[in-house]
Amino acid sequence: MSDVIEVTSVRTLRGVVRVPGDKSASHRALMLSALADGTSTVTGLSSGLDVRSTASILTALGARVDETSDLVAVTGPVAGLAPSPMDLDCGNSGTTMRLMAGILGGVAGRHTLTGDSSLLTRPMDRVATPLALMGAVVQGHGPRAHGPLVVTGSSALRGIDYHVPVSSAQVKSAVLLAGLSASGHTNVAEDVRTRSTTEDMLRHAGVTIHSVDQGPGRTVTLTPGRPAVLDWVVPGDPSQAAFFAVLGLIHPDAELAVSGLDGSPERVGFVAVLERMGATVSLVGERTATTLRSSSSDLVATEVFAREIPSVDEVPILCVAAAAATGVSSFRMMGELRIKESDRFAASMALAHALGCAVWSEGDDFFIEGVGSATAFQRFELAAGLDHRMVMAAAVAATSGAGGVIYGTSTVSTSYPGFFDDLASLQ
Ligand code: S3P
Repeated sequence: MSDVIEVTSVRTLRGVVRVPGDKSASHRALMLSALADGTSTVTGLSSGLDVRSTASILTALGARVDETSDLVAVTGPVAGLAPSPMDLDCGNSGTTMRLMAGILGGVAGRHTLTGDSSLLTRPMDRVATPLALMGAVVQGHGPRAHGPLVVTGSSALRGIDYHVPVSSAQVKSAVLLAGLSASGHTNVAEDVRTRSTTEDMLRHAGVTIHSVDQGPGRTVTLTPGRPAVLDWVVPGDPSQAAFFAVLGLIHPDAELAVSGLDGSPERVGFVAVLERMGATVSLVGERTATTLRSSSSDLVATEVFAREIPSVDEVPILCVAAAAATGVSSFRMMGELRIKESDRFAASMALAHALGCAVWSEGDDFFIEGVGSATAFQRFELAAGLDHRMVMAAAVAATSGAGGVIYGTSTVSTSYPGFFDDLASLQ
């Protein structure tokens, strides 16, 4: 794929999109299958490069991954994963590095997890700290433990009681995955309920795991065990669907739908935000086969708190919605945005500014004064850095407004290689 794309605005948008398999569930389906004893299958796996990084690492550790056109067979070694002397390349994928650190914490031996220049700037101390409490040694560079990460695993991990100090499904998951091979129970508490993909999938694979909700948070208790062999079916990724939902809303003549999605409550908080903005948007169907529809709407500004959309993955595209709205939208407690694939705090503001909005920030809050309609967006140029979500947010804005030039578009392949084809199919 070319690395620079000129996106032009289009007159009408109609259609139904099938986005790739949920990225979070895809990583975990591969990992749990590789930890099982025997051959599992995965249908609907994400086609993104991030998930391929996970597959290659599991192969280096002794699992077998065979791909056919519509499913992937994963065979976990009878004796469990074995250490590899090779550098284990996580590419752009924070989920791969953090969750694999948890798995490797329980595999005796020395492992090196590395990645691209974006990943090597992301803090890994958030997983190094709890894994050290369990008996693994996880060493990175500097106080935030930036990668490459050297994980010295142990076959004698101990279960811990851990309160995750930041809202992060990746940290929760790393501790739970290490807990599978530890002695004793592992308890993980979180103040805000982040996506429960790991807990749900471990339970499905026969591992004893209990969750108790407490106010806005939850505590998860895991008993060590080995996941069973299973046939996994991965639903569509709601975080990718968010781009088409906002496209359908801000474009002046659009009716769009995305089908087959994971509709878990922790994943669809962005829909409630859009409803508050006056959007014609709906979410229907069962939890693993949800359809998200949207059509052209006049949006008004709102106040968005990070806890409404744990992991804040949908904030860049919500900023595009805010840019098209009337009034000043406030994005509150958004510090985590700074340490994603790029500094999305700065990048989201920069995109809204490039579209013609006044933008400003105070501490971890930022504000966007919308221009009232995407038809009032300015034509823009944006360098997306190594950040797939900034590419897609910018493409949605350009398609609905006055067009734009996006640099660094090939990075969209980390999560959604067919994004520009799917976008074109709606015109
Ligand atoms: C993910 C968790 C989130 C999210 C990422 C995927 C996961 O990260 O941003 O895209 O699969 O667990 P945090 O745990 O850092 O919020």
